[in-house]
Amino acid sequence: MENKIADIKERLKKELAEIKTSRLLYELKVKYVIGKTGEIPSLMKELGKASKEDRPKLGQIINGLKDWANQTIAEREAYIAEMEKKARYEAETIDITRPSKRTKTGTLHPVTIVKNQLVDIFAGMGFSVVETREIEDDFHNFTALNTPEEHPARDKQDTFYINDDLMLRTHTSPGQIHSLKTLKPPFKVLVPGRVYRSDDDATHSPMFHQMEGLAIDEKITMCDLQGMLDVLVKKMFSSSAKTRFRPSFFPFTEPSVEVDVSCFECGGKGCKLCKGTGWIEILGGGIVNRKVLENCGVDPEKYTGFAFGLGLDRIAMLKNGINNIHVLYEDDARALGQFKD
Ligand code: DAH
Repeated sequence: MENKIADIKERLKKELAEIKTSRLLYELKVKYVIGKTGEIPSLMKELGKASKEDRPKLGQIINGLKDWANQTIAEREAYIAEMEKKARYEAETIDITRPSKRTKTGTLHPVTIVKNQLVDIFAGMGFSVVETREIEDDFHNFTALNTPEEHPARDKQDTFYINDDLMLRTHTSPGQIHSLKTLKPPFKVLVPGRVYRSDDDATHSPMFHQMEGLAIDEKITMCDLQGMLDVLVKKMFSSSAKTRFRPSFFPFTEPSVEVDVSCFECGGKGCKLCKGTGWIEILGGGIVNRKVLENCGVDPEKYTGFAFGLGLDRIAMLKNGINNIHVLYEDDARALGQFKD
């Protein structure tokens, strides 16, 4: 019996040292110590067969073996539990130094960027933004703006007519008429928005964007327009930018001007962008024609005003070195994503 006990101890020791998982350890416990069938509990049953004199000694040895087995197994159990915990933690480790997947963020469209910049600058000068309709009638798009019946702008080749009276607006100037009819002077408004003309080449798109400006008050003169535009170009293009007024003609302003800004690429020396002239045309404007005021029921003896209109697409192209307007409308995120606010 003593030999058997020694043999159990020896085997248990060997097997235990090789066990690496809690599952196998449990199986080992079943084999040696658990219940009545485990090898050690079975020894107790065999004790009955031993002689009376041997029994106390053997009982002591078996109990010793039992205590030893329980303790050694418990130690191994704690060790394996610790190992398993470590392995689990390692498997769950997150590598915080690993580069993350890039999330693509959208960017503003270059025309929106220009519009927002202009709105910011004009808001600082007291202008508020109004948006008016894109489908206009003849009165608002032409007649009230003093555009004669035979004016080429009314030509079916230039204008997208919907019927004899309605059309897609060809400019944002009808915003002047809506404002003059609904707002009480003095006021200063900006009307940004989409406009449409039957025109399509590298620098023209059938849909493009303009921004109209209108300031109505007593005693407004061309000097007010000039002073305001001087501030505008400095903020929009460069702190050394200058303006130049050239006489022009628009039915809704009298006198009318076309306004150039000194070339922001070469500073006025002459380059490809300004076609060697040192100047870049940016807008049309002038003093609101008294007929326009009369058409809208505003007293031209009391009030005067200036108006201007600029092309947002053109400015976005000039500022970003884009030489084909279709780049703005082909929806190629690789092209449009390059322009930052
Ligand atoms: N409506 C003109 C155009 O589309 C631009 C313009 C010129 C607007 C002079 C104005 C202005 O308000 O005074 O070409």
